[in-house]
Amino acid sequence: MSFVISKQHKSFLYEQVIALIDDMVCQGMICPGDKLPSLRAMAGKLNVSIPTVKQAYQVLEAQGKVRAQEKSGYFLQAVNASNPMPKRVKLPSQPIVVNKQQLIEQVYDAIHQPSIMPFGIANPVMVASTEKILAKLMRRAMHSMGENMLSYGAMDGLDQLKKQIVHRYLDLGLVVSTEELVITNGAQEALAIALQCVTEVGDVVAIESPCYFGIVELVESLGLKVIEIPVCPDDGVWLCDLGEALLKHDIKACVFSTSINNPLGSFMPDIRRKALVELLEYHQVTLIEDDVYGDLHFTERRGKPAQCYTSTGNVITCASFSKTAAPSYRVGWMVAGPHSAKARRLKRALSCSSSLMNQLVLADYVVSGEYDRHLKLMRKRLMFNKTQMVKALRRYFPSSARLSDPQGGCVIWVDLGTEYSGSKLFQLAIAHRISITPGVLFSAGRQYESCIRMSYGLVWNNDVEQAIALLGQLLLNAKK
Ligand SMILES: Cc1ncc(COP(=O)(O)O)c(C=O)c1O
Repeated sequence: MSFVISKQHKSFLYEQVIALIDDMVCQGMICPGDKLPSLRAMAGKLNVSIPTVKQAYQVLEAQGKVRAQEKSGYFLQAVNASNPMPKRVKLPSQPIVVNKQQLIEQVYDAIHQPSIMPFGIANPVMVASTEKILAKLMRRAMHSMGENMLSYGAMDGLDQLKKQIVHRYLDLGLVVSTEELVITNGAQEALAIALQCVTEVGDVVAIESPCYFGIVELVESLGLKVIEIPVCPDDGVWLCDLGEALLKHDIKACVFSTSINNPLGSFMPDIRRKALVELLEYHQVTLIEDDVYGDLHFTERRGKPAQCYTSTGNVITCASFSKTAAPSYRVGWMVAGPHSAKARRLKRALSCSSSLMNQLVLADYVVSGEYDRHLKLMRKRLMFNKTQMVKALRRYFPSSARLSDPQGGCVIWVDLGTEYSGSKLFQLAIAHRISITPGVLFSAGRQYESCIRMSYGLVWNNDVEQAIALLGQLLLNAKK
C-alpha cells in the first residue's frame, strides 16, 4: 500500500491512520463487522505508537464507524444491508485517450427536450425557484445602472461579486484575495482554464470514476489522456489508488470533486481532503477541485474547500452559482492562486468577460441575505427528495439494484445489476418522455453500462412517482 504514515505530513499521525483505515474499508480489505487489527498489531505495522492508533480508533468510534467491544477490541460497524452501495469496478491501469464526445452529444440532445420528466438533468435550483427574486433584482439593477449594465464588464469579474465570494470563503476559514479570483462563464469555463494553466496536449490527468461527464468531455477536447481513480460511494476518491497512480504515471493534474461527487453524491470528509492535498503536494501535482455542489451538503457542516489545506498553493478551486441560483446566468469562478496571471490571460482570450448584469444581480442577491436563506431551503427540500427517491427506487426497481447514499447535491447513482443495460433503459425512457443519464457517460473508458444517474432536483409530486414506477416496468425490457 503506497499511502505511507509520515511525520513529515502536516496531518497528525492519528489522522493519517484514519485516512488509511477509510481506504482499507473502501477497498474491501476490511469488511463491515470485521475486527480491526489490535492496537499493538496496527501500531507495529504502521510504525507508529499505540496511543496514536488508539486515538484514531476512538475518533472513528465517535464518528459511528467502529464500535469498541469490551475486552475484544474494535469492530467495523455493520452496514445497512437493505441498502447495499454500488460496487467498486475494475478500471484500466494505463492512461487512456478519451473518445466520448459523440455519445455525450446524443444524450444531451435527448435529455434537453422540452416537457420531459427531467431525471437526466442535474438542475437542483428547480426545487426552489429563484425566478421572482432574480427578476426583481435585475429590474432594480437596470433601473439604477441604465445602459452601463449592457456594457463589457471587467475582464476578470465584477469587484462587488468578487468581494462577496471572498467573504464567503473567509467564513469557511479560507483567506483568498480578489486578485487571485477570476470570474468565469460557469464552473465549466473555470475547469477548462484551470486545466489549460497546468497541462499541455498529450499530458495525463487523473479524474475520479465515476466522473461528471462534462469533465470527461473537457479533457477529450483539450487532447489530454486520462487515468481514472475510483471513488468510494461514501468517502470520496480512493487515496490508495491515487497514491499508486502517482507513483506509476507522470500525472500533471487531478480534477476531483472535493466536496460532493456527481454522480455518486459521496462526501469527502475534511480529514481525507487534507490527506489528499498532502499526497498531491508530496508528488508536486496540481489539484483542480470542483466545488460546485459544496453548499448543497446534507451533512451537519459544509466541507472546507481543499484550498484551505494547501501550503504550496498548488490547488485551483472552481465553483459557480449554477447549482444554487441560476444555471443560465453562467457565472462561476476560480481561485487560481499562483496561476492567476495565466488564468486571467486565458479568460481574456477565451471569452473576454462574463455577463456584467448577471454578476451584479448575483452580488446583490448574496448581499441581501436572501441567497443564504434560499440555500437553507434548497438543502431541506433536496434532503426530502432524496428520501422520496430512495423509497421509490426501492419500491419499483429490482431489489438487487444498488443505490449510492448521497450526502449532498441532487443526484443518486443506481447500479441496476449486471443483467441490465442503463443505455437501453435510457432509450426506452426517452420514448416515454422520461430522461435519465446512462452510466457509460460517467467514465472515460467503457465502465458503468449497468448504471444510471437519476436527479431528484425537481418538485416532488405524483407525476414523479409515476415516472419512476414506469421506469421500473421499462427495466424488464432493458436486459443486456
Ligand atoms: C460536478 C460538476 N462540475 C461542473 C459542472 C459545470 O457547472 P457550470 O454549469 O457552472 O458550468 C457541473 C454541471 O452539471 C457539475 O455537475
